[in-house]
Amino acid sequence: MNQLLTVQSDKPYTPRPSGKESNRLHSQDTPFHDWYRFVLSFPPHLVRDYLEKFQIDSGHQVLDPFSGTGTTVVECKKRGIPSVGVEANVMAWFAGEVKVDWTPDPDKLLADSRTVAEAALEVLKKEGIEDEQMFGQGYTDASMYQLRTLPPDILKLLLTDSISPLPLHKVLVLSECQEKYGKPEFRRHQKLALAKELVTSIGNLHFGPEVGVGKKKSDAPVVAAWLDRIHVMCQDLRSVEDSGIPAKIYHADSRNLVGLLDPCLIDAVITSPPYPNEKDYTRTTRLESVLLEFITSKEELRELKKGLVRSNTRGVYKDDTDDKWVTENPEIQRIATAIEDRRIELGKTSGFEKLYGRVTKLYFGGMTRHLAELRPILRPGAQLAYVVGDQASYLRVMIRTGEILADIATSLGYEVERIDLFRTRIATATKEQLREEVVILKWKG
Ligand SMILES: C[S@@+](CC[C@H](N)C(=O)[O-])C[C@H]1O[C@@H](n2cnc3c(N)ncnc32)[C@H](O)[C@@H]1O
Repeated sequence: MNQLLTVQSDKPYTPRPSGKESNRLHSQDTPFHDWYRFVLSFPPHLVRDYLEKFQIDSGHQVLDPFSGTGTTVVECKKRGIPSVGVEANVMAWFAGEVKVDWTPDPDKLLADSRTVAEAALEVLKKEGIEDEQMFGQGYTDASMYQLRTLPPDILKLLLTDSISPLPLHKVLVLSECQEKYGKPEFRRHQKLALAKELVTSIGNLHFGPEVGVGKKKSDAPVVAAWLDRIHVMCQDLRSVEDSGIPAKIYHADSRNLVGLLDPCLIDAVITSPPYPNEKDYTRTTRLESVLLEFITSKEELRELKKGLVRSNTRGVYKDDTDDKWVTENPEIQRIATAIEDRRIELGKTSGFEKLYGRVTKLYFGGMTRHLAELRPILRPGAQLAYVVGDQASYLRVMIRTGEILADIATSLGYEVERIDLFRTRIATATKEQLREEVVILKWKG
């Protein structure tokens, strides 16, 4: 039986600004990091802090097995430290890979993008569509135009109204011109710039932190916004020389690492896995994933979800078996039972609610599989930092994620050095304090 570990250090992680502030991108960090981020991203200063605490330098190799938009790998590259990432969500993986590709000549990238932009503006002009400035808010009659759109089955993959018809038309024209007139060597950077604008200036999404549809814009500048973004990228590329520091992100599942990474490769892990919080992370990146053609069918979306550690009931499948890894863990079994008992007590009967207990077991089972797979890849003495948050999303039953993860790690032969406090949040439903923590582990080998 595993004993729950309570090796907590209340010595605050420094600096420890409260809530949102601690996650914000500092202005000096915008180059490369800001090419594309999502609400799940952690801040580069947190990565820096642990690189320093672990005394990592250019002779070491860092891993982020849940690399998201690549914050750890980008920060390592900026500091001349070799690193590798693993990410299962194709859009996030693509973003990370592009953010560490500093090879394009910025002048050529800009010139090529201008050619594409001019071609797109020309097509739009012929159709009588302006892109220089927004039409009157809310009054543009899109039905006046023959607008391009997506096939109905693809449109269904998007969050309803996440992009209005006129901006969508412009995005499709721009993408077509990119294919037709742009040089292939610049396409990835150009696509990422479009992804960034889709979630900021072009689409109707708002993030708070859940993704939702906000005020619907009848129109929005697309080509100009995209070209502005390319300008920023070019400025960043001009500010550095690509020193060839290895920085690679694999599109893969961190529960299957053996064969992907060499044995005894990694000196430090700095990462933030998903939390068991009922958020469907594939929704966060849905608009750009579909418009950039990373997801082209319901089946592909399902495959994407299957490659993720289970953290919400919309991503649970009948043949999932990760829960087998935690049948012997009393705390996880207790939580799953408490959730199920509470569900029955409250008379909640939806299919999703019935899965709350199971998804909790699948989540910790998936994390167990990951930590087990990681062991041969670590060098003896490797240090690990896992940023995780407590949750009370399942009928208000408290899940102390950091403590449980530490307990699992111990059972797999890791040493728990301490648990740092990153920040606290107040749970809206229970008004209880939820800790976001950094679990510090050591692999002795
Ligand atoms: C909290 S986010 C990480 C954010 C990242 N630190 C950043 O700054 O962008 C967790 C990430 O884990 C990814 N993920 C979930 N399950 C995975 C798996 N089995 N293998 C690899 N990545 C996975 C998700 O797609 C998500 O991008």
